[in-house]
Amino acid sequence: MSEPIRSEATKKLYIETVGCQMNVLDSEMVVASLRKKGYDLTQDPAQADAILFNTCSVREHAEEKAYNNLHHLKQLKLANPNKVIGVMGCMAQKDQNSIFQRVPFVDLVVGPGQLHRIPEMIELAEQGEKQQIAVSLDRKGGAVDEIKRSHETFDPLRDPEMRPTPFQAYLRIQIGCDKFCTYCIVPMTRGPEQGRSPDQIVEEAKILAAQGAKEITLLGQTVNSYKYVEGDRTTRLADLLQRIHPIEGLERIKFVTNYPKDMTRELLETVRDLPKCSPYLHVPAQSGSDNILKRMKRGYTTADYYEMMDRINEIIPNPSVSSDFIVGFCGETIDEFQMTVDLVKRCRFKNSFIFQYSVRPGTKGAELYADDIPQEEKHRRNLELLGVQNQISLEDNMRFLGETVEVLVEGPSKWSVRKNETGDLRQLTGRTICDRIVHWAGNMRQVGELLPIRITDVSAFSLLGEVETTESQCEPDLVQLSTST
Ligand code: SAH
Ligand code: SF4
Ligand code: F3S
Repeated sequence: MSEPIRSEATKKLYIETVGCQMNVLDSEMVVASLRKKGYDLTQDPAQADAILFNTCSVREHAEEKAYNNLHHLKQLKLANPNKVIGVMGCMAQKDQNSIFQRVPFVDLVVGPGQLHRIPEMIELAEQGEKQQIAVSLDRKGGAVDEIKRSHETFDPLRDPEMRPTPFQAYLRIQIGCDKFCTYCIVPMTRGPEQGRSPDQIVEEAKILAAQGAKEITLLGQTVNSYKYVEGDRTTRLADLLQRIHPIEGLERIKFVTNYPKDMTRELLETVRDLPKCSPYLHVPAQSGSDNILKRMKRGYTTADYYEMMDRINEIIPNPSVSSDFIVGFCGETIDEFQMTVDLVKRCRFKNSFIFQYSVRPGTKGAELYADDIPQEEKHRRNLELLGVQNQISLEDNMRFLGETVEVLVEGPSKWSVRKNETGDLRQLTGRTICDRIVHWAGNMRQVGELLPIRITDVSAFSLLGEVETTESQCEPDLVQLSTST
């Protein structure tokens, strides 16, 4: 007996996303392309006709988790062999065919540069085609232009419903990375660095604003290295910001992630002069030791980094700088680790993301250096550095006590979700223009608005407050910072 014909509209997609903002954006685009084919989202893999895992390879742990989660799908696949299971993203690009060996019931393996092929591949899988693979060329797999093309993305296809919130959107301005830091897999999974055309970017920003985006975050692995050459015209990030800034409806513009060497005076002055530009700058330092930085091949010294911090502090009023660090990189001595602690103390970051070194096969680091710091020691250094950073974050946040900040309201806070709060009045969360998280008791109708919040309490991670009712006391940026901390 033949199966009943299902209406296209009844198809369900389950998608799980890990990794960086690039992956969040990629998932948004894949969902948009599948909606066009009649798919709707489900939160339940058992109900799904197609299951997609958007994966990350930056640390081993993320990959192990992805493989574990994939193995858990075995019973579902056995119960319904027609369910299409796909692995997309950086792990798909890195592990390629070996994914089929490790998890034989996977139907699709799709690298981040080939995501536009997913709808067609799912259709073929439904017709019985097993183990399909679409990946980009390796870094040495052809002529440079050919490699670049194989990593291009299909960005203009967007789905507002898939955004972190409907009024906050990511916009990719740069694909790939050419920095080749010795610990990092990203240049292999995302391919060569290429700036997208400024005209396309501006067009997309207009579409996003028309769809209701009030905040746009420009994305690139080294976003401030953005460069696009057309004839004799070179466009850089500062020029892009100038072009995006006047777009109606946009209130805030952010950009991540920055590379210390490319934090130019011109860019910083542009950020200072354009009121919608956030003074939040994420500029990973990775280590405070010149020897380690050299072996990481980061291309700068701590002196360069300190010089950059001085430049930021000189040009931008109330800047908000955050960083990433890797602890326990190959051969990192206690003294070298201490230099990282010193750098954090001296730079006083808003916050830092601290990672324990994870050796990545296929990188120069894996080839050249032994991963010789014991796991417990990496963990200890992680905790120590986190302790130092948290104390700084707390002291830094204390300056906000009694001040009024402008917050873009994102929605109910995690606390509210945990407590199962319903109705109009809830614990809400949002962010200041300098990227600080704020919580207060508010009304769900405030979601998506810019609201003045008076800060009454702080922790290392967030500010707590209440809605300020006298509107005249609100400043778009925090300009009335108290000096007594
Ligand atoms: N393009 C960004 C970072 C991308 S990866 C940049 O250059 O700043 C995000 C962070 O993961 C990095 O900043 C680094 O701190 C961390 N990371 C990258 N590879 C890692 C590895 N092999 N082990 C541990 N952490 C790593
Ligand atoms: Fe990785 Fe370095 Fe490129 Fe960042 S700049 S993505 S850390 S290689
Ligand atoms: Fe991970 Fe790929 Fe992003 S490796 S951090 S998802 S670019």
